[in-house]
Amino acid sequence: MSDFRNELTDYICSTFKLEDSLLENIIKQQSEAGGPMMNIGADQGKFINLLVQMSKSREILEVGSYFGYSSVWFGRALKALQDRENCEANHYSLTCVEKSGKQIPIIENNLKKAGLEALTEVINADARAHLDKLIQEERVFDLMFIDADKGNYPTYFKQAEKLVKPGGLLLVDNVLGLHTYEVLDSKTEDKRILAIQEFNKLLAESHSFDGSILTVQAGLAIAIKH
Ligand SMILES: C[S@@+](CC[C@H](N)C(=O)[O-])C[C@H]1O[C@@H](n2cnc3c(N)ncnc32)[C@H](O)[C@@H]1O
Repeated sequence: MSDFRNELTDYICSTFKLEDSLLENIIKQQSEAGGPMMNIGADQGKFINLLVQMSKSREILEVGSYFGYSSVWFGRALKALQDRENCEANHYSLTCVEKSGKQIPIIENNLKKAGLEALTEVINADARAHLDKLIQEERVFDLMFIDADKGNYPTYFKQAEKLVKPGGLLLVDNVLGLHTYEVLDSKTEDKRILAIQEFNKLLAESHSFDGSILTVQAGLAIAIKH
């Protein structure tokens, strides 16, 4: 992102004090683990949290959880809904599908620290196969969030057509690129960018979803199912 965009994002995050110590600690865990920093931005986290509350989405499917940063934003939105609607916890669920076995206890522990274990379930599975299983079981969700391996985005889109309820929402991260806005490169040979470009075309031409892209961070697709 440009310095100007980074400055604006910092301004928003600090003005609205978007991250508390628990979210800051998840960022610290990622940094200390020495791997890539792959979480969504706090500005995106707040946005998706508000979307869940506004749309009253009770059943959420997250594909790709890493350290559970986005999971906490979703789980907290469900908790806010639950408090407002004064309903039992079993009416709300966040299902996180994460391929990396070593991330599972970390995600579960962060959700527990956030007091969200009653609302959340963490599944250790390859998303392609697990989403097929959910389709076979005829499961449907109010909101699906995709933030896993970019090369499979076109497959996840086709699975989302079956998994998102009519009137439900689809959110997808990194639809403008991985680090910069690589989708603008029409000559790219990077398979992940080609897959993202294909995903964007599928969404733009879809008869199942009405959607577009917000230029927040590296691009967030947002769509409603017909
Ligand atoms: C960008 S990170 C997710 C970040 C998380 N959504 C957040 O904002 O905090 C992508 C995650 O997807 C997981 N992943 C990659 N391929 C996957 C697959 N086929 N099925 C499930 N998870 C996958 C990776 O292990 C990684 O933890």
